Amino acid sequence: MKIAMVGSGYVGLVSGACFADFGHDVVCIDKDQSKIDRLHDGIMPIYEPGLDALVESNVKAGRLSFTTSLAEGIKDANAIFIAVGTPSRRGDGHADLSFVYAVAKEVGENLANDAVVVTKSTVPVGTGDEVERIIADTGTSHKVSVVSNPEFLREGAAIADFKRPDRIVIGAEDDFGREIMREVYRPLFLNESPILFTSRRTSELIKYAANAFLATKITFINEMADLCEKVGADVQDVSRGIGMDGRIGAKFLHAGPGYGGSCFPKDTLALLKTAEDYDSPTRIVEAVVKVNESRKRAMGRKVVDALGGMEAARGKKVALLGLTFKPNTDDMRDSPAIAVAQTLHDAGVEVAAYDPEGMELAKPLMPFVTMCGDPYEAIEGADATVIVTEWDAFRALDLAKVKTTAKAPVLVDLRNIYLPEDVRAQGFEYSSIGRV
Ligand code: UGA
Repeated sequence: MKIAMVGSGYVGLVSGACFADFGHDVVCIDKDQSKIDRLHDGIMPIYEPGLDALVESNVKAGRLSFTTSLAEGIKDANAIFIAVGTPSRRGDGHADLSFVYAVAKEVGENLANDAVVVTKSTVPVGTGDEVERIIADTGTSHKVSVVSNPEFLREGAAIADFKRPDRIVIGAEDDFGREIMREVYRPLFLNESPILFTSRRTSELIKYAANAFLATKITFINEMADLCEKVGADVQDVSRGIGMDGRIGAKFLHAGPGYGGSCFPKDTLALLKTAEDYDSPTRIVEAVVKVNESRKRAMGRKVVDALGGMEAARGKKVALLGLTFKPNTDDMRDSPAIAVAQTLHDAGVEVAAYDPEGMELAKPLMPFVTMCGDPYEAIEGADATVIVTEWDAFRALDLAKVKTTAKAPVLVDLRNIYLPEDVRAQGFEYSSIGRV
């Protein structure tokens, strides 16, 4: 199979490298010349564990290459994946499809053989229909089938998620599309990953429904955590207690500072817009979006409380450990750390921070924060230490050293990575999420 991957960002690069690793012949295409130059030099544009080695071995094996020329890249391709960004459109929250449509037009204009065109970018219902129209309007004489194949990989675990998916969803309207996609995913099919064939519109909606449901699950447990704090219950046990019910499931029930990242915030908003456009309100998702937004700021106030309240907090110093929206990524998009840092800054608190990968991207988002070389440098003289992201490096801090380095032994654990009794036994004032 020859595969062209248009867009060498997160999804495109991971998917392209994994397809090559399955034995397909893959060309990753991107308009950004410097990104392609760096990829030729083995430099990844994103941080994803294992990606550099996967790219290197497949380039060496001659199965993976990079180009800026779409015409050259799609030549002889059986499947052309569109994996370009669909950011929230400024002002209205709709997914911005201009990149997807521009690629569709260019593909139609340069098609040199029959091919399946696959939208892998997260796109609202009906986008495949428009892609089909745009390609037809270019007057191409080649047979084209437009297919939807959403991606469910998580940043930081993207390669494992791609290679061992819970399911593969393919929305196709004809046999040509279904047959080529079956070939593309044959290696995974052999590994017994289930493939679900649906209509194209259904497949497009599955992606949004999945992300909105997961965002809802997280937001539900976060609200339960708040209630736990009020009634003196333990949210970790509530999660276990409900998660053991097979109908509920244990995953994505970890209470924290609110979800962030490049997907849940953007996709829940886009789903609301689709629902509005079709006059079919999704009130649960509306509530999830609102609750999650206010939660991030509330986390900043929780830290202020740990400092003794607004009056006492002014002029104090806080160390933030972890800035990215989750561990094993450098992604800062919609990270709760941004709202936490801003709330502290607004309260007149001095903020220092350390993150293993995220500081470069974090700096412009929180210019008032002093970025440090390691956790203990950030903790130096701090009146409170706050775990914002659960990087492994923060799971076994030397608490005795934290105590002597900080000004006060106050630990706010927004990810529940410590046991309250352990930390308190070492003389800390400890607060966490949904536990007293
Ligand atoms: C999410 C989905 O999990 C993927 O299936 C999907 O493919 C991807 O979006 C996408 O649409 O591209 P991702 O954004 O990489 O993946 O990260 P997650 O691991 O889902 O975490 C999202 C946020 O939820 C993080 O801020 C994380 O800290 C938070 N979270 C997650 C919780 O607060 N509690 C949990 O139990 C799980």
